[in-house]
Amino acid sequence: MSIQWFPGHMTRARRQIEEKLKLIDVAIELLDARLPVSSRNPMVNDILGNKPRLVLLNKSDLADPAVTERWVKLLAADDISALPIDAASGTGVNAILPRCRELMAPKFEAWARKGMSPRAIRTLIVGIPNVGKSTLINRLAGRSVAATGDRPGVTKGQQWIKVGADMDLLDTPGILWPKFDDAKVGYRLAATGAIRDEILHSEDVAFYLVKHLLTHYPGVFSERYGIDELPDDAEDPQQVVALMEAVGRRRGCVMSGGKIDISKASDVLLRDLRTGKLGRISMDIP
Ligand code: G4P
Repeated sequence: MSIQWFPGHMTRARRQIEEKLKLIDVAIELLDARLPVSSRNPMVNDILGNKPRLVLLNKSDLADPAVTERWVKLLAADDISALPIDAASGTGVNAILPRCRELMAPKFEAWARKGMSPRAIRTLIVGIPNVGKSTLINRLAGRSVAATGDRPGVTKGQQWIKVGADMDLLDTPGILWPKFDDAKVGYRLAATGAIRDEILHSEDVAFYLVKHLLTHYPGVFSERYGIDELPDDAEDPQQVVALMEAVGRRRGCVMSGGKIDISKASDVLLRDLRTGKLGRISMDIP
């Protein structure tokens, strides 16, 4: 995994995006609505430069809607146009073209002054692996054109996809790499499945998740697992592990001798988060 962390691949990925940027009018930056900060490549501003940009908060079906709304407002305060979408079901996708038109207004005016008639808006989707780039490309194309699981370093001829009469989209996305020298960012990416499970121990990730849930969404333990007695201190490791064991007991993760299989309990917690069974949970909270 994680070829995208080697400097050589990062340089190549960056160069590939910079080549594509020359062809387009608007860059569409895809972030995970549950982690709008952690799923953002820290060099993205530098890479995209002053290209007009639309930020899409994807997988908003899995994120806490109130938190997503706060992120959209915060981004707007920074002059960044942002929209929550769910590329898998298509919710919010119809708003993408009107937003791109808004971002293009200055360019359209400049063209009109030169007597040029407007043409279709040329766009590119960029984002870290697994954020839903291929799903969105296929959704916008109305058919399956993008193979999921693209990796930097794998080049193929790129083509324009027509999205109605007014938008052309490059069929190969720009692949950015996640960055997590900050442990918290790594755990958040791992919890949602944005980075593969081999990178961090699932027990450590589940431990982080349980602390996060206790702090921000304590009701899930009663709703999903019927556990009403919660630790009074989310920072006390022993109490957190005891809660993970309680989840394991409820879910039958018991080894011979009656000991709780904490590894299995961790997998249950992570799977329940990723499939939305814990409800709509955001990991980055402003
Ligand atoms: P990528 O190109 O950026 O690497 O991501 P890709 O489209 O392959 O999507 C990664 C996973 O995220 C896929 O699930 C996809 O179905 C899911 N996904 C994409 N957009 C959304 C969304 O808005 N909401 C939800 N809930 N999921 C989304 P997968 O398990 O890898 O594959 P599959 O189950 O679709 O076969």
